[in-house]
Amino acid sequence: MTEPFLQIQGIRKAYGPVVAVENVDLQVRRGEFLTFLGPSGSGKSTTLYILAGFEDPTAGNILLDGRSLLSIPSHKRNIGMVFQRYTLFPHLSVGENIAFPLKVRRLPKAEVDAKVKEMLRLVRLEGFEDRRPAQMSGGQQQRVALARALAYDPPLLLMDEPLSALDKKLREEIQYEIRRIHQQTEVTILYVTHDQEEALRLSDRIAVFSKGIIDQIGTGPELYSNPQTRFVAEFIGDSDFLPCKVLSASDGHATISLGDGRALDRIPLHGFASAGGKAALMLRPERLRLARISGENAGIAATVSDITFLGNNIHVSTTTDDGALVSVRLPFGHEAIAGLNRGDRVQLTFDAGSAHVFC
Ligand SMILES: Nc1ncnc2c1ncn2[C@@H]1O[C@H](COP(=O)(O)OP(=O)(O)OP(=O)(O)O)[C@@H](O)[C@H]1O
Ligand SMILES: [Mg+2]
Repeated sequence: MTEPFLQIQGIRKAYGPVVAVENVDLQVRRGEFLTFLGPSGSGKSTTLYILAGFEDPTAGNILLDGRSLLSIPSHKRNIGMVFQRYTLFPHLSVGENIAFPLKVRRLPKAEVDAKVKEMLRLVRLEGFEDRRPAQMSGGQQQRVALARALAYDPPLLLMDEPLSALDKKLREEIQYEIRRIHQQTEVTILYVTHDQEEALRLSDRIAVFSKGIIDQIGTGPELYSNPQTRFVAEFIGDSDFLPCKVLSASDGHATISLGDGRALDRIPLHGFASAGGKAALMLRPERLRLARISGENAGIAATVSDITFLGNNIHVSTTTDDGALVSVRLPFGHEAIAGLNRGDRVQLTFDAGSAHVFC
């Protein structure tokens, strides 16, 4: 097996008593787009800053192409960076901003000019060369920052919430640009966001950060269909949780009982189960089936509390007889919704494999 391009080994960073990251281990392939996703304060930026060389880790090592980066100062690591706030030089034109890292590296003028042109083309800002940053929109400024970061062909590009200051439409437009540029240049990208949609749209793999540690690393579909922790289940996709009891467990699956005494078999299990122990059953709104109760109830009994039209989806909020809130999402025009009203009694069913039990 070839060695991973980037290896982050057991990184820990403490600021006095505050542990910002703990035991972060990651291996990144050359050309991969890997995103750090997690809530505020979970250690995403700290990990990125350690890679960039702005911070030293308290413990651990970082290897790029098999060589430790730790003794190399930040400006010699040859890593491109784009940050949340626009960091362009305000007194320089767009062209001069992009040329800056090339001039620092003492490239001949003709080469610098050619590269600036190529970069402007890459980020689709031809003709903007002589503008000042203040004369451009936020999205255009971030594209210049991207062009500047990529101008000297860094093998690794770090991006810390580069789109968070932009409105939704512009954000989506630049997400598309970043994806295209990644495919075109094959640069390895580590990207930070707390927006799950952005992470899913851009990334080959996502590392989910929670309280300074990585809870799980995987592709979007892996994290969605097989979350290893309740935190990941809540962070990727929508989910509801029902209290349950574990009756027995084997082979990574559990038999559980719900509040109404109904037993459910072969539900994927995460965490350490003890027989009779309390647990939570996770359900995804788009994986649930809903039918009116007529005759014998074959599912979880619930009452419809709200019905919301969401364009191509209908969102049905229900309250189970135990008082838990469970949402069901159905395609517009689905037969189960015809004539459905608030207060109607329904039964919710699902395939065992689409649910998860967390202890
Ligand atoms: N210089 C510092 N001194 C003390 N604590 C710090 C310092 N920098 C970060 N921290 C703490 O480390 C933890 C992780 O911070 P970090 O900036 O990595 O989070 P983040 O995941 O990037 O959050 P956000 O989404 O808000 O940017 C936080 O609890 C933060 O308060
Ligand atoms: Mg941050």
